[in-house]
Amino acid sequence: MLLIDVKSFIQAALTIVGLCFLFMIKFATARHVYNVVDYQAAGNGRTDDTQAFLKAWNDACEDERSPILRFPSGKNFLINKIRLEGPCRSNISIEVHGNITAPNKIWTKETTNLITFHAIDNLVVHGWGTIDGQGAIWWDCFKRNLLEFVNCQNLVVSHVRLTNSPNKHLVFDGCNNLTVHGVTIMAPGDSPNTDGIVMQGCQQVQITRSKIGTGDDCIAILTNCSDVDVSGITCGPGHGISIGSLGKDSEAVVERIHVHDSTIFQALTGLRIKTWEGGSGFARNITFERIQMMDLITPIVIDQSYGTMQLSDVAISEITFRDINGTSTEEVVVKLECSTSVPCTNLTFENIIFARAAINKTVSATIQNAYGTTNGTIIPILPLAGRSTNL
Ligand SMILES: *[C@@H]1O[C@H](CO)[C@@H](O)[C@H](O)[C@H]1NC(C)=O
Ligand SMILES: *[C@@H]1O[C@H](CO)[C@@H](O)[C@H](O)[C@H]1NC(C)=O
Ligand SMILES: *[C@@H]1O[C@H](CO)[C@@H](O)[C@H](O)[C@H]1NC(C)=O
Ligand SMILES: *[C@@H]1O[C@H](CO)[C@@H](O)[C@H](O)[C@H]1NC(C)=O
Ligand SMILES: *[C@@H]1O[C@H](CO)[C@@H](O)[C@H](O)[C@H]1NC(C)=O
Ligand SMILES: *[C@@H]1O[C@H](CO)[C@@H](O)[C@H](O)[C@H]1NC(C)=O
Ligand SMILES: *[C@@H]1O[C@H](CO)[C@@H](O)[C@H](O)[C@H]1NC(C)=O
Ligand SMILES: *[C@@H]1O[C@H](CO)[C@@H](O)[C@H](O)[C@H]1NC(C)=O
Ligand SMILES: *[C@@H]1O[C@H](CO)[C@@H](O)[C@H](O)[C@H]1NC(C)=O
Repeated sequence: MLLIDVKSFIQAALTIVGLCFLFMIKFATARHVYNVVDYQAAGNGRTDDTQAFLKAWNDACEDERSPILRFPSGKNFLINKIRLEGPCRSNISIEVHGNITAPNKIWTKETTNLITFHAIDNLVVHGWGTIDGQGAIWWDCFKRNLLEFVNCQNLVVSHVRLTNSPNKHLVFDGCNNLTVHGVTIMAPGDSPNTDGIVMQGCQQVQITRSKIGTGDDCIAILTNCSDVDVSGITCGPGHGISIGSLGKDSEAVVERIHVHDSTIFQALTGLRIKTWEGGSGFARNITFERIQMMDLITPIVIDQSYGTMQLSDVAISEITFRDINGTSTEEVVVKLECSTSVPCTNLTFENIIFARAAINKTVSATIQNAYGTTNGTIIPILPLAGRSTNL
């Protein structure tokens, strides 16, 4: 009796262990890996690996088990312009542990990007590899972006390094629920239009812990973006963190933007909101706080006449600058150039302290048509016009 019990107990236990084991194997292999090397990618930096990437992508996109598309480390994949289309049958992760490099020649005459991701939901792009746009030869002529994501929902881009884009590095257009985390973006401070991250028509965006130094904006938030949280950014050289230009061809809708706990150095401008003249719509509820700036030309700018001598009609209101300090190379550290027809309203400045990088030189502000209040220590004095919002 006892013996049988022990036997059946052991049998039962073995069955359970076996089932667990099978389950573990199934679980471990559940995320199938599509390695571009298995698709004849050479990864030697000379042979064109675009077709291998495309074939691996097509297979991964057909896989319903949430596959991984892998660029293995220790290799350098030469990729020509490529467009990856969704929707795919399940969530895909692209692991960039090796490098991806653009050809060192003019690779297209079309208006396109090196890599375009279109309508792919739940995509993750991550890894420790570098994506190098070899942009130097482009900077004088054509303008092409490095990576562009169009209409991708629930997107994560993390840890990759992007460098020397022919034009902008990372562009997001119409992406909701976007996370960018721990990326590094580098291009020479004098390379034209090489913005780090540019977004338009994106909602629910988080950009954290990233290091960006290029020849243009570190981060540019364009029209129809809302609920954007940017923090832990080290920005410089470049043109700082910008909202706009807004309202050039269509109504601008920009709100609930929070930029905080970041550092900006050696930049033309630090924090900037700019609109085109004659535009429509609004930019409101934008908060910049706990930001340190070093060696800037103009740290804070609101410019409603950007690009022309005329004044804009995009309404700018509820803008807060709080706990911001830094040094500048020029005298005017705060420049608020708002329109007479639609002035800037409900501006708040709280604990703002600027100094000149050079000893014994003063700082000042130029202010037109800006309404709001100050609080705490403010250097230089900001002669905002009253508290009125009703004009
Ligand atoms: C990848 O790029 C990084 C940065 O440029 C470089 O240090 C590394 O050697 C490259 N690796 C390969 C395998 O090309
Ligand atoms: C796919 O991604 C979405 C968004 O990240 C997530 O909610 C969903 O659970 C994922 N599906 C699977 C099967 O992993
Ligand atoms: C946003 O995307 C993340 C990462 O893909 C996912 O985990 C999360 O569920 C998404 N949130 C919503 C509200 O879809
Ligand atoms: C932004 O949104 C407004 C209002 O919804 C719309 O009229 C406009 O076309 C959008 N602009 C762009 C560039 O998508
Ligand atoms: C302003 O935006 C913040 C998020 O940045 C949000 O928490 C707050 O509710 C918004 N205020 C209004 C009045 O919409
Ligand atoms: C400037 O701000 C940073 C944090 O934002 C703070 O650590 C630092 O003490 C401030 N410096 C001055 C001179 O106020
Ligand atoms: C700065 O100003 C002080 C007081 O006016 C003066 O004693 C000092 O020599 C000046 N320093 C420089 C570098 O000009
Ligand atoms: C002024 O700033 C202090 C902290 O520096 C804060 O406690 C107070 O609420 C602020 N007042 C207004 C009117 O914002
Ligand atoms: C703008 O500020 C005024 C007082 O300065 C206040 O009464 C009004 O509610 C504010 N408007 C918004 C949208 O915050």
